[in-house]
Amino acid sequence: MYKAPRGTVDILPEEQAYWRYVEAKAAEVCQLYGYQRLDTPVFEEAALFTRSIGEGTDIVTKEMYIFKDRSGKALALRPEGTAPVCRAYIEHGMDNLPQPVKLYYLASAFRYERPQAGRYRQHHQFGCEAIGDADPALDSEVIHLACQFFTSLGLKEITVQLNSIGCKVCRPDYVRALKGYYQRRAADLCPDCETRLEKNPLRLLDCKRPECQHIADSSPWSTDFLCADCRAHFTAVTEYLRSLTLSFSLNHRLVRGLDYYTRTVFEVQPLNGGALSALGGGGRYDDLIEQLGGKPTPAVGFAAGMDRVVLNLKKQGIPVPPLPSPCVFIAHLGNKAKAEAVKLAASLRTQGISAVMATGDRSLKAQLRQADSLGTGYAIIIGEEEMENRKLTLRNMVSGEQQSLTPVELRAVLGKGT
Ligand code: HAM
Repeated sequence: MYKAPRGTVDILPEEQAYWRYVEAKAAEVCQLYGYQRLDTPVFEEAALFTRSIGEGTDIVTKEMYIFKDRSGKALALRPEGTAPVCRAYIEHGMDNLPQPVKLYYLASAFRYERPQAGRYRQHHQFGCEAIGDADPALDSEVIHLACQFFTSLGLKEITVQLNSIGCKVCRPDYVRALKGYYQRRAADLCPDCETRLEKNPLRLLDCKRPECQHIADSSPWSTDFLCADCRAHFTAVTEYLRSLTLSFSLNHRLVRGLDYYTRTVFEVQPLNGGALSALGGGGRYDDLIEQLGGKPTPAVGFAAGMDRVVLNLKKQGIPVPPLPSPCVFIAHLGNKAKAEAVKLAASLRTQGISAVMATGDRSLKAQLRQADSLGTGYAIIIGEEEMENRKLTLRNMVSGEQQSLTPVELRAVLGKGT
């Protein structure tokens, strides 16, 4: 018996209403904020991700799905969407377009993580990237977009956590101070944090172990080390957010799990969210495009985890619109009626009326049971009598009312309902 690979799930037909709802809201919000859709390949050159996400990050060291293709080229399944969008921006000369270029994507992402509720090896992201402008108003707009997305879905009590981790000018001072602070407490760190202290000190603040969290609580704050430009940028972001009455809390421990961020970083948490529950996150990445071979180009973006959004919609009991059922079910009795049903189903569909035809030779009762379970508004019954009279019986599946109609009358009735 084969099973879906560990950490992956099948999205079954009964789940699809949630997913269509979330995807439609994402597209709607992007339309409101002027973002255009971009689809990139599921795999890219592995180096694109190692260079952008960072050699010392968990994603690159432990979680990437890397493989060689038949020519020996190292490829990776996309673990996130920002680097591919930047690659596409450079490759297609989008720096020649009016800036910022605003792009969004709905894409699956792959990370070899320890699977648990809300954490999968294949997950799905809705992401937005605004490339080509350093204006702090754009940071606040992206955060506002994220909140509008979650609240328009009906999610309640989402919270925004915000921080600034500075730029290449001021961050080294902060990292030095952080390192010094942790070196003085090295004896109390977990083995992973001992490595982080050497390889990637910012990640120390992410550690989920209680003994390390305790140390992180009193660690130096990145916002105390910002250079004048980064401080002015951060102040402006917070002022814009306040003017939008968007509430947020400053979290000096928020550093994010990817190395490309500069200045603004943020995460959105759901009601009663724990450490692993972020619905989405993002921030500024002003050096990334240049690092990938483009011109120096500031950018800011965010991505939401759609799997976690769906989990939270269910947890909060938020109803989603049902997907439309087929308009009509065609039941038939006898071979001649069946031949007529085949033709009728095809002709209704060409007119844009969705129709499901019974197959096999079941009793009328069994066929109508099937119509019931499909939730069609109508059933058409074609039997011997109907064949003789050149008429069809149309049954309203809700009221049970039946009428005998000619094919022309039938199309008129069904056409109105579609
Ligand atoms: P990220 O925080 O790594 O950021 O992922 C974005 C969101 O994807 C997370 O907040 C979470 O909801 C969801 N997510 C991540 N990993 C998993 C997983 N294993 N299972 C289920 N859901 C998951 C990024 O990927 C950045 N590219 C976001 C960004 C866009 N920054 C700037 N622009």
